[in-house]
Amino acid sequence: MKFIAVNGSPRKNWNTAMLLESAVEGARSKGADAELVHLYDIDFKGCHSCFACKLNAGKSYGKCAVNDGLTELLNKLYEADAFVIGSPVYYADVTGETRSFMERLFYPSMLYDKSYSSIFPRKIKTGFIYTMNQKEEAMVQRGYEYFFNMNKGYMARIFGASEYITACNTYQFNDYSKYETGAFDIESKKESREKQFPLDRQKAFDFGASLVS
Ligand SMILES: Cc1cc2nc3c(=O)[nH]c(=O)nc-3n(C[C@H](O)[C@H](O)[C@H](O)COP(=O)(O)O)c2cc1C
Repeated sequence: MKFIAVNGSPRKNWNTAMLLESAVEGARSKGADAELVHLYDIDFKGCHSCFACKLNAGKSYGKCAVNDGLTELLNKLYEADAFVIGSPVYYADVTGETRSFMERLFYPSMLYDKSYSSIFPRKIKTGFIYTMNQKEEAMVQRGYEYFFNMNKGYMARIFGASEYITACNTYQFNDYSKYETGAFDIESKKESREKQFPLDRQKAFDFGASLVS
Protein backbone atom coordinates (compact mmCIF):
# COMPACT_ATOMS: atom_id res chain seq x y z
CA MET A 1 0.00 0.00 0.00
CA LYS A 2 1.69 3.19 -1.23
CA PHE A 3 0.58 6.52 0.34
CA ILE A 4 1.82 9.94 -0.72
CA ALA A 5 1.31 13.25 1.08
CA VAL A 6 1.91 16.39 -0.98
CA ASN A 7 2.76 19.60 0.89
CA GLY A 8 1.50 22.65 -0.98
CA SER A 9 2.84 25.10 1.61
CA PRO A 10 6.10 26.96 1.00
CA ARG A 11 6.94 26.15 4.63
CA LYS A 12 8.33 22.67 5.15
CA ASN A 13 7.90 22.42 8.89
CA TRP A 14 4.90 24.53 9.79
CA ASN A 15 1.19 23.90 10.15
CA THR A 16 0.38 22.14 6.90
CA ALA A 17 3.59 20.11 6.86
CA MET A 18 3.07 19.07 10.49
CA LEU A 19 -0.44 17.83 9.79
CA LEU A 20 0.79 16.00 6.70
CA GLU A 21 3.53 14.38 8.80
CA SER A 22 0.79 13.18 11.16
CA ALA A 23 -1.19 11.81 8.20
CA VAL A 24 1.95 9.99 7.02
CA GLU A 25 2.42 8.52 10.51
CA GLY A 26 -1.23 7.45 10.51
CA ALA A 27 -0.80 5.73 7.15
CA ARG A 28 2.38 4.02 8.38
CA SER A 29 0.53 2.83 11.51
CA LYS A 30 -1.62 0.77 9.12
CA GLY A 31 1.45 -0.66 7.40
CA ALA A 32 1.53 1.69 4.39
CA ASP A 33 4.72 2.74 2.65
CA ALA A 34 4.18 6.49 3.14
CA GLU A 35 6.11 9.46 1.81
CA LEU A 36 5.89 13.26 2.19
CA VAL A 37 6.73 15.38 -0.87
CA HIS A 38 7.20 19.16 -0.74
CA LEU A 39 5.78 20.84 -3.82
CA TYR A 40 7.98 23.92 -3.37
CA ASP A 41 11.08 21.73 -3.89
CA ILE A 42 9.89 20.96 -7.40
CA ASP A 43 10.46 23.15 -10.47
CA PHE A 44 7.26 23.09 -12.51
CA LYS A 45 4.47 25.10 -14.11
CA GLY A 46 0.70 24.61 -14.26
CA CYS A 47 -1.18 23.27 -17.28
CA HIS A 48 0.29 24.64 -20.55
CA SER A 49 -3.05 24.25 -22.34
CA CYS A 50 -1.28 22.28 -25.11
CA PHE A 51 -4.19 19.80 -25.36
CA ALA A 52 -1.86 16.89 -26.13
CA CYS A 53 -3.75 14.94 -23.44
CA LYS A 54 -6.99 15.43 -25.38
CA LEU A 55 -5.67 14.70 -28.90
CA ASN A 56 -7.47 11.66 -30.32
CA ALA A 57 -4.98 8.83 -30.90
CA GLY A 58 -2.20 11.13 -29.69
CA LYS A 59 0.68 9.49 -27.85
CA SER A 60 -0.10 11.54 -24.72
CA TYR A 61 -3.86 10.95 -24.75
CA GLY A 62 -5.00 10.96 -21.08
CA LYS A 63 -1.50 11.84 -19.86
CA CYS A 64 0.29 15.12 -19.27
CA ALA A 65 2.71 15.70 -22.16
CA VAL A 66 4.70 18.33 -20.26
CA ASN A 67 8.02 16.97 -19.07
CA ASP A 68 9.33 18.92 -16.10
CA GLY A 69 10.03 18.49 -12.41
CA LEU A 70 6.44 17.49 -11.68
CA THR A 71 6.37 14.54 -14.08
CA GLU A 72 7.92 12.14 -11.57
CA LEU A 73 5.43 13.08 -8.84
CA LEU A 74 2.45 12.81 -11.21
CA ASN A 75 3.57 9.32 -12.25
CA LYS A 76 3.98 8.33 -8.59
CA LEU A 77 0.50 9.58 -7.73
CA TYR A 78 -1.06 7.62 -10.60
CA GLU A 79 0.61 4.49 -9.14
CA ALA A 80 -0.30 5.25 -5.49
CA ASP A 81 -3.01 3.49 -3.51
CA ALA A 82 -4.02 6.68 -1.68
CA PHE A 83 -2.81 10.24 -1.44
CA VAL A 84 -3.47 13.52 0.32
CA ILE A 85 -2.81 17.11 -0.75
CA GLY A 86 -2.20 19.64 2.02
CA SER A 87 -2.38 23.38 1.50
CA PRO A 88 -2.60 26.54 3.56
CA VAL A 89 -5.59 28.64 2.55
CA TYR A 90 -4.39 31.59 0.48
CA TYR A 91 -7.23 33.94 -0.40
CA ALA A 92 -9.96 31.38 0.25
CA ASP A 93 -8.43 28.54 -1.77
CA VAL A 94 -5.18 26.59 -2.11
CA THR A 95 -1.76 28.20 -2.70
CA GLY A 96 -0.82 29.12 -6.27
CA GLU A 97 1.63 26.21 -6.56
CA THR A 98 -0.98 23.75 -5.28
CA ARG A 99 -3.42 25.10 -7.86
CA SER A 100 -0.86 24.69 -10.67
CA PHE A 101 -0.13 21.16 -9.48
CA MET A 102 -3.86 20.32 -9.39
CA GLU A 103 -4.29 21.54 -12.98
CA ARG A 104 -1.55 19.15 -14.09
CA LEU A 105 -2.97 16.31 -11.98
CA PHE A 106 -6.63 16.71 -12.94
CA TYR A 107 -6.78 17.91 -16.52
CA PRO A 108 -5.22 14.95 -18.39
CA SER A 109 -7.36 12.44 -16.49
CA MET A 110 -10.68 14.14 -17.09
CA LEU A 111 -11.84 13.35 -20.60
CA TYR A 112 -13.82 15.69 -22.81
CA ASP A 113 -16.45 13.06 -23.52
CA LYS A 114 -20.12 13.74 -22.84
CA SER A 115 -19.86 12.86 -19.14
CA TYR A 116 -16.34 14.20 -18.50
CA SER A 117 -15.40 10.69 -17.47
CA SER A 118 -12.14 9.77 -15.78
CA ILE A 119 -9.35 7.87 -17.50
CA PHE A 120 -7.92 6.79 -14.13
CA PRO A 121 -8.37 2.99 -14.14
CA ARG A 122 -8.85 2.38 -10.41
CA LYS A 123 -10.79 3.80 -7.50
CA ILE A 124 -8.56 5.05 -4.68
CA LYS A 125 -9.03 7.18 -1.59
CA THR A 126 -7.75 10.74 -1.72
CA GLY A 127 -7.97 13.74 0.58
CA PHE A 128 -7.14 17.35 1.30
CA ILE A 129 -5.83 18.98 4.45
CA TYR A 130 -6.38 22.72 4.71
CA THR A 131 -4.85 25.02 7.33
CA MET A 132 -5.88 28.65 7.78
CA ASN A 133 -5.78 31.75 9.93
CA GLN A 134 -9.53 32.09 10.21
CA LYS A 135 -11.50 30.57 13.05
CA GLU A 136 -13.96 27.84 12.14
CA GLU A 137 -17.02 30.17 12.25
CA ALA A 138 -15.30 32.62 9.87
CA MET A 139 -14.28 29.76 7.57
CA VAL A 140 -17.96 28.85 7.25
CA GLN A 141 -19.18 32.44 7.04
CA ARG A 142 -16.68 33.37 4.31
CA GLY A 143 -17.73 30.41 2.18
CA TYR A 144 -14.37 28.59 2.14
CA GLU A 145 -16.20 25.27 2.20
CA TYR A 146 -17.53 25.99 -1.29
CA PHE A 147 -13.96 25.84 -2.66
CA PHE A 148 -13.03 22.87 -0.49
CA ASN A 149 -16.04 21.00 -1.84
CA MET A 150 -15.24 21.96 -5.44
CA ASN A 151 -11.71 20.55 -5.04
CA LYS A 152 -13.06 17.45 -3.33
CA GLY A 153 -15.58 16.99 -6.16
CA TYR A 154 -12.88 17.05 -8.87
CA MET A 155 -10.71 14.61 -6.92
CA ALA A 156 -13.61 12.22 -6.28
CA ARG A 157 -14.70 12.35 -9.90
CA ILE A 158 -11.24 11.40 -11.13
CA PHE A 159 -9.90 9.10 -8.44
CA GLY A 160 -13.10 7.61 -6.98
CA ALA A 161 -13.32 9.14 -3.51
CA SER A 162 -12.16 12.19 -1.61
CA GLU A 163 -12.59 13.84 1.79
CA TYR A 164 -11.06 16.86 3.48
CA ILE A 165 -10.15 18.00 6.96
CA THR A 166 -9.35 21.49 8.20
CA ALA A 167 -7.27 23.17 10.90
CA CYS A 168 -8.42 26.70 11.75
CA ASN A 169 -6.94 29.62 13.72
CA THR A 170 -3.40 28.39 13.08
CA TYR A 171 -0.27 29.91 14.53
CA GLN A 172 1.40 31.85 11.72
CA PHE A 173 4.48 33.19 13.53
CA ASN A 174 6.58 31.96 16.41
CA ASP A 175 6.65 35.42 17.97
CA TYR A 176 3.60 37.58 17.23
CA SER A 177 5.17 40.59 18.99
CA LYS A 178 7.58 41.07 16.07
CA TYR A 179 4.87 41.52 13.45
CA GLU A 180 1.91 43.75 12.64
CA THR A 181 -0.88 41.52 13.94
CA GLY A 182 -3.79 43.84 14.76
CA ALA A 183 -6.06 41.63 12.66
CA PHE A 184 -5.69 38.72 15.07
CA ASP A 185 -6.91 37.64 18.48
CA ILE A 186 -3.46 36.50 19.61
CA GLU A 187 -4.57 35.02 22.94
CA SER A 188 -7.06 32.84 21.10
CA LYS A 189 -4.34 31.80 18.63
CA LYS A 190 -2.02 30.86 21.50
CA GLU A 191 -4.76 28.81 23.13
CA SER A 192 -5.62 27.18 19.82
CA ARG A 193 -1.95 26.28 19.28
CA GLU A 194 -1.72 24.67 22.69
CA LYS A 195 -5.09 22.94 22.86
CA GLN A 196 -6.60 22.61 19.37
CA PHE A 197 -3.53 21.98 17.23
CA PRO A 198 -2.62 18.69 19.00
CA LEU A 199 -6.22 17.57 18.35
CA ASP A 200 -5.84 18.61 14.70
CA ARG A 201 -2.66 16.52 14.49
CA GLN A 202 -4.55 13.53 15.88
CA LYS A 203 -7.33 14.16 13.34
CA ALA A 204 -4.71 14.18 10.57
CA PHE A 205 -3.17 10.97 11.92
CA ASP A 206 -6.61 9.29 11.86
CA PHE A 207 -7.24 10.73 8.39
CA GLY A 208 -4.00 9.22 7.06
CA ALA A 209 -4.88 5.88 8.63
CA SER A 210 -8.40 5.96 7.16
CA LEU A 211 -7.13 6.77 3.65
CA VAL A 212 -5.09 3.55 3.54
CA SER A 213 -7.70 1.36 5.27
C1 LIG B 1 -0.36 34.91 0.93
C2 LIG B 1 -1.19 34.42 2.08
C3 LIG B 1 -2.58 34.43 1.98
C4 LIG B 1 -3.36 33.95 3.02
N1 LIG B 1 -4.73 33.97 2.89
C5 LIG B 1 -5.49 33.46 3.89
C6 LIG B 1 -6.92 33.45 3.76
O1 LIG B 1 -7.50 33.86 2.77
N2 LIG B 1 -7.63 32.93 4.79
C7 LIG B 1 -7.03 32.42 5.92
O2 LIG B 1 -7.74 31.94 6.80
N3 LIG B 1 -5.69 32.41 6.05
C8 LIG B 1 -4.91 32.91 5.06
N4 LIG B 1 -3.54 32.89 5.18
C9 LIG B 1 -2.93 32.27 6.40
C10 LIG B 1 -2.50 30.82 6.17
O3 LIG B 1 -3.49 30.08 5.51
C11 LIG B 1 -2.23 30.11 7.50
O4 LIG B 1 -1.30 30.84 8.26
C12 LIG B 1 -1.74 28.71 7.25
O5 LIG B 1 -1.96 27.88 8.37
C13 LIG B 1 -0.25 28.68 6.90
O6 LIG B 1 0.15 27.36 6.66
P1 LIG B 1 1.69 26.95 6.82
O7 LIG B 1 2.04 27.20 8.26
O8 LIG B 1 1.71 25.50 6.48
O9 LIG B 1 2.47 27.77 5.87
C14 LIG B 1 -2.74 33.41 4.18
C15 LIG B 1 -1.33 33.40 4.28
C16 LIG B 1 -0.57 33.91 3.25
C17 LIG B 1 0.95 33.89 3.38
